[in-house]
Amino acid sequence: MTEERSRPKGMKAGLTHYGDAGFSLFLRKAFIKAMGYSDAALSRPIVGITDTFSGYNACHRTVPEMIEAIERGVMLAGGLPVRFPVTSMHESFSNPTSMFLRNLMAMDVEEMIRAQPMDAVVLIGGCDKTVPALLMGAASAGVPAILTVTGPMMTGDHRGERLGACTDCRRFWARHRAGEFDEPEMEEISGKLAPTAGTCMVMGTASTMALTSEALGMMLPGGAAIPAVHADRLRHCEASGGRAVALAEKRLTPDKIMTRGAFRNALRILHAIGGSTNGLVHLAAVAGRLGFSLDLDAFDALGQETPVLVDLKPSGQHYMEDLHKAGGLTPILRELKHQLELDCLTISGRTLGEELGAAADDWPQEVVRPFARPIHSGGALRVLRGNLAPEGALIKQSAASPALLQHEGPAVVFENLEDLARRIDDPELAVTPESVLVLKNAGPKGAPGMPESGYLPIPRKLAQAGVKDMVRISDARMSGTAFGTIVLHVSPEAAEGGPLALVENGDRIRLDAAVGEINLLVEEEELAARRNRWHAPQQHDGSERGYLRLFLQEVTQAPEGCDFRFLQPPQRSSNVP
Ligand code: FES
Repeated sequence: MTEERSRPKGMKAGLTHYGDAGFSLFLRKAFIKAMGYSDAALSRPIVGITDTFSGYNACHRTVPEMIEAIERGVMLAGGLPVRFPVTSMHESFSNPTSMFLRNLMAMDVEEMIRAQPMDAVVLIGGCDKTVPALLMGAASAGVPAILTVTGPMMTGDHRGERLGACTDCRRFWARHRAGEFDEPEMEEISGKLAPTAGTCMVMGTASTMALTSEALGMMLPGGAAIPAVHADRLRHCEASGGRAVALAEKRLTPDKIMTRGAFRNALRILHAIGGSTNGLVHLAAVAGRLGFSLDLDAFDALGQETPVLVDLKPSGQHYMEDLHKAGGLTPILRELKHQLELDCLTISGRTLGEELGAAADDWPQEVVRPFARPIHSGGALRVLRGNLAPEGALIKQSAASPALLQHEGPAVVFENLEDLARRIDDPELAVTPESVLVLKNAGPKGAPGMPESGYLPIPRKLAQAGVKDMVRISDARMSGTAFGTIVLHVSPEAAEGGPLALVENGDRIRLDAAVGEINLLVEEEELAARRNRWHAPQQHDGSERGYLRLFLQEVTQAPEGCDFRFLQPPQRSSNVP
């Protein structure tokens, strides 16, 4: 008998250790029968369902009805669905930042999948960090898994202007800072930016992770763009539940889907959709769980040949509901077909090429551009190197001001987030539109958790004078929904003594996104002297214990996905893409 065939299944899998396997199973059955299950039900393949509902998470408001639909699909296919709670987190309700908690959720997901008897699992993600955390945990647990997402919100409108979270949250806030809207009107607008359940409906991190996960093959076709409140969302859930039963029978584990070729496809899609910079960190983390290292330069080279095709905010004009009406991911894949690895197996059991062949024909639409007529000829993201970022930095060039992509100016330095908050609107701040705003100590260890503070606000006095964009540089992240000429993920981070820590007010900095460079124009001798004087920032309050201590000890830098080192396999098999 093969190891696979002899593997315990259903309720017999992963028994609690009492030193007597028969007793362990007897006890387990006694307790599960208290849930009202019959012996016939308990003999079915068990499909776990991650319940990521939370009263704090509006992006996951529809999870209860999604679970009902998934359960229906599992039962129609002859399985037994069992829901179980895992961590849920929302971007605006996570202190200090949801990124600080992503690895905690991934550990929770991995251990709950491993600890409890299930032959397959349906992962319900949505809000930014949940999808990567689910995929990281499932990749490490090694149990057959299929992903579905809550789906994007519908758009709102304000006095005739269509708007949505969160590109327009930031746009309206910037206009408020510039004095265009008063407090009462901002209150009115806050009720219109997120008008339904679901995830942010621009090409933010949630949309990016949904589309790249579908390209990765972990979601049934069409699932990424269906709006949260659309009936198709529930039909997709039902189908995912049914498919999970087949996965259980075939033991189709995540490592068979998330291969090197699949990551190459997903990383190419990240460029083509004008995806969030966060998407690169998360895909690096998921790939890392399967033994792949991210090659930043190869990712950059992928961008040189992959145009941005999707006309969605913040790089373009439309919203996710428009992409759904245009066919979702399928027309994007079709335009890039000649560049994709079509023989990658997807969770449906068919290859990506077979899925594309089986999909409905395209129809006239304006959201996904033809390959020959992109909205941006280079990829969405550009990797930057130079003496300011020896291990790399990132800029979303498709959502930047073209005139600033080559720029040299004097630095205006903020030592940390508190310093930024204290001085950015100081009328005496020595800043001009040509200045380069620099924020230090906002990286994985510096902040901690690498918050989305890379979108430094335009100083109020400049905003009121009509300045809409400036070059901004930090070791932080930025929301995928933001627009601006913003250099992020500078690595190594300042708190680790990276060159960013050495920048002083007035130093000249040159950004040249066309050649992929970011440089501090200061003599090496002077930098060496500054390096000798440098002291690591003070330890964070509470860092002597608990999760914060673990985080600070183990978190890796952005190019490694900010995962915990001890959660990655000791050996790396190869690079992606
Ligand atoms: Fe949840 Fe934007 S806040 S997806």
